[in-house]
Amino acid sequence: MRGDGEEKTEQDQLAEFHADVQEGLSQDQKTLPCRWLYDQDGSELFEAITELPEYYPTRTEVGIFKSHLAAMAEAIGPNAQLVEFGAGAGTKTRLLLDALETPASYIAIDISADFLRASMAALARDYPGIDVIPIVGDFMNASGLAETDLPTGNRLAFFPGSTIGNLLDDEIVTFLSAVRTMLGAEGRFLIGFDLVKSADILVPAYDDAAGVTAAFNLNLLKRINRELDGSFNLNAFAHEARWNEADGRIEMHLVSGQDQTVKVNGDRFSFKKGETIHTENSRKFKMDGFAALAEQAGWRMKKHWTDDQKYFAVALMDQALG
Ligand code: AVJ
Repeated sequence: MRGDGEEKTEQDQLAEFHADVQEGLSQDQKTLPCRWLYDQDGSELFEAITELPEYYPTRTEVGIFKSHLAAMAEAIGPNAQLVEFGAGAGTKTRLLLDALETPASYIAIDISADFLRASMAALARDYPGIDVIPIVGDFMNASGLAETDLPTGNRLAFFPGSTIGNLLDDEIVTFLSAVRTMLGAEGRFLIGFDLVKSADILVPAYDDAAGVTAAFNLNLLKRINRELDGSFNLNAFAHEARWNEADGRIEMHLVSGQDQTVKVNGDRFSFKKGETIHTENSRKFKMDGFAALAEQAGWRMKKHWTDDQKYFAVALMDQALG
């Protein structure tokens, strides 16, 4: 598998987790990077979230793909070199591959070598005519992307799921620019992103009645306890989903229910009652706002597709000249 040299050992990963927790819990607004939410349990909880009645994004985006596949395939054209960020090979990837005219290759870039290996093997079995190329790498860390060599031809970056929404605006521009450099001037981009809507819809999507999202968020503390010898009392923190209208994002927080001190690998961190750890941003875009950000990175929105309620969007972008 390409990029194997960059594969991180479990030890490196643990050291990074520890450094992020130390740094994040030392800030005024305590914060933890959302990527640590996805250990084995976290990934399973996220899968469960995508099936919740309140969580509209996944089923809405799949619906957009299903309704507009022919138009997407027509716009994309034959012999695509599909480059997905995150080891997809899930429903949306397969829908797209099935619809495209003679796709040439499928390149997936993901930080988890194990996950890549498994999903790429399954894909190669089901699509024997397509050249399946796994690349281990941290695509959210754009600097690693530029050196990646891709097959030439009809290159299409693919980034569904509104994962882009985890990034801040300047990070979005950096990421989109790195993808442009990676693909070259002829490259195009098919990207899914979530749209601004009423708080009555947004907040329950991130604070469901069954408590699955709460378990997903609290699992981060469980992970710290297990992997970093933490002493978090899970009953002393509560999940909160906050709609931050000014910044156009849902924020997940863990709210301390009392004044308390918690230990992580021997370091002590104090919490006031009501103080929070900010664990995730999930950006909601306006269509023209997204187009403006993309434009800053040299991308031009050529077409977009949405659902009847305009909850979610999938855009096809190419590059402006000059
Ligand atoms: C995987 C980042 C798209 O922001 O909706 C779901 C993660 N967090 N519920 C999202 C998530 C809480 C999800 N993304």
